[in-house]
Amino acid sequence: MEPKTWSLMEVLRWTAGHLAERSFDSPRLEAEMLLAHSLGLSRIELYTMHDRPMDRAELDAFKELVRRRRLGEPIAYLTGRREFWNHRFKVDRRVMVPRPESEMLVEQALAFGDPDQELLLADACTGSGCVLLSLLAEREKWVGVGTDLSPEALAAARENRAELGLDKRCDLRLGDGLTPVLPLKKQPFDLITANPPYVPDGDWAALPPDIRDFEPRISVTSGADGLDVIRRLIPQAAQALRPGGLFVMEYSGPEQSQAILALASAAGFGTTEILKDVGGIDRVLRALRA
Ligand SMILES: C[S@@+](CC[C@H](N)C(=O)[O-])C[C@H]1O[C@@H](n2cnc3c(N)ncnc32)[C@H](O)[C@@H]1O
Repeated sequence: MEPKTWSLMEVLRWTAGHLAERSFDSPRLEAEMLLAHSLGLSRIELYTMHDRPMDRAELDAFKELVRRRRLGEPIAYLTGRREFWNHRFKVDRRVMVPRPESEMLVEQALAFGDPDQELLLADACTGSGCVLLSLLAEREKWVGVGTDLSPEALAAARENRAELGLDKRCDLRLGDGLTPVLPLKKQPFDLITANPPYVPDGDWAALPPDIRDFEPRISVTSGADGLDVIRRLIPQAAQALRPGGLFVMEYSGPEQSQAILALASAAGFGTTEILKDVGGIDRVLRALRA
């Protein structure tokens, strides 16, 4: 008997059902993303070419991706890309997968800085570089520096920087918090963004497996209350910003808000504000240097 041939649509249906068994939130979408990636097609093309048969080699390669997804590996690591702001950033296990809530940092930064003026920006804990590079890509006159404690993450950020053609306006430095840009004779930075690790160490074991088993722990946890890096970062940001400069930083939620506001005011920030994410949860510190 001839072995069955599988069309794109049959494979999609089978995969969506297979992923749904593991109770993924969007099995159909995930199936489309994986199949489109595997065949080098767009998601629309999966539908316009719905009866295209898949050959054995294509099926084997695709089944391997589905197997890895069922084990919990994030889609972004399987496709090697994650959309953030206006770009599809290269991501792999060297960096945390960019999250939509971190786009709040980009929104705040863009609203603060004059698009027609030169501006010096620092992005602490840059990871893939998604926040820093999104900003520099939006604003031709801005120049920035990103820092990260992980050499692997910094290497990934360099690859994204090169892809976006931003090498000339973006420096990337290895080190803790903003240490690589300190000490400074004067405070030259107009704007500082940061998405530091902020999860308490004790919460690591209970995190969903797609985070715990795949994302770098250095990008997630930071001491007993999650504030170890933040405790160093807030005074460093105050030291590096010009008066009137803006610091925007993502953090975990309401349980950290009070401590973060206290750290900001002790460090010399004047106006401070907590911004909530789309879920109504405290998410971003917005602080202006007095
Ligand atoms: C939550 S991830 C954020 C990555 C990226 N900015 C984003 O928004 O997707 C935190 C990043 O901070 C880095 N990191 C951890 N501890 C650090 C420290 N003490 N100083 C600088 N970077 C640190 C990690 O390597 C990781 O890349």
